Amino acid sequence: MSERSSLERLLLVVSLLVMTVLAGIIGAHAGEVPLPAVPKATAGSCVAPPEVMRRSHMSMLQHGRDLSVRQGERIDGGRLTGCVNCHAVSDGKGGAVTVSSPQHFCRACHDYAAVKIDCFECHASRPEQAPKASDASPDVPASAHAALADYAKEIAR
Ligand code: HEC
Ligand code: HEC
Ligand code: HEC
Repeated sequence: MSERSSLERLLLVVSLLVMTVLAGIIGAHAGEVPLPAVPKATAGSCVAPPEVMRRSHMSMLQHGRDLSVRQGERIDGGRLTGCVNCHAVSDGKGGAVTVSSPQHFCRACHDYAAVKIDCFECHASRPEQAPKASDASPDVPASAHAALADYAKEIAR
């Protein structure tokens, strides 16, 4: 390992610590600032750690689209169907809300941040079947998780 890369590592650790402390300070004031209420996922763990997802889900989805549409390949972990399965929000009637509801997972932050996406004009915004805890772990092979995690690390650099 070169000296440069250990310095980079140290810087990364220090900046992560600073971010953690800042998050604590911001969190302590969360009662005063209206933050978006993000609905809990039905089960499982995300295709990448939540803090990476918060920052990088846009480019991950873009990446999934590029691979699927332009190269005919698929990273299943990057499929929108996976996202809406795990992040389904109950409509209280045994089904899940569509993106027309402000309760929809993908609108929690987007409404707050005034982000508009057209994805759900073509893609389903809720699972095909009613969300059940047992359905929440989709047929995502471990290799797809690993591929996305690698990609997340790459773009986080
Ligand atoms: C196997 C289930 C699963 C899949 C598939 C999944 N997620 Fe997640 N996701 C989770 C869990 C669990 C969390 C952690 C927070 C929680 O429990 O709600 C999470 C967290 C997140 C967060 C951070 C939310 C916050 O609290 O700030 C975002 C953004 C996100 N996911 C987007 C996506 C996107 C986009 C996809 C599709 C590429 C996706 N997720 C696929 C389960 C999943
Ligand atoms: C934890 C908050 C949060 C959640 C939950 C979330 N997003 Fe986002 N998303 C954002 C923010 C903030 C931006 C704007 C980022 C920017 O402008 O750099 C964004 C931007 C995007 C973009 C790019 C839009 C553009 O015009 O460039 C896409 C695509 C996207 N999100 C898809 C999704 C999908 C699909 C879901 C649900 C599976 C989702 N997001 C859930 C916070 C979130
Ligand atoms: C005009 C229709 C249309 C719109 C709008 C659209 N897509 Fe797609 N998308 C498609 C089609 C068609 C495919 C290929 C389907 C397949 O491979 O089965 C696809 C594939 C994908 C895939 C990979 C495969 C999958 O099933 O998820 C991702 C990820 C994806 N799109 C994300 C997005 C995101 C994010 C947005 C919004 C920023 C978006 N798409 C907007 C039509 C659309």
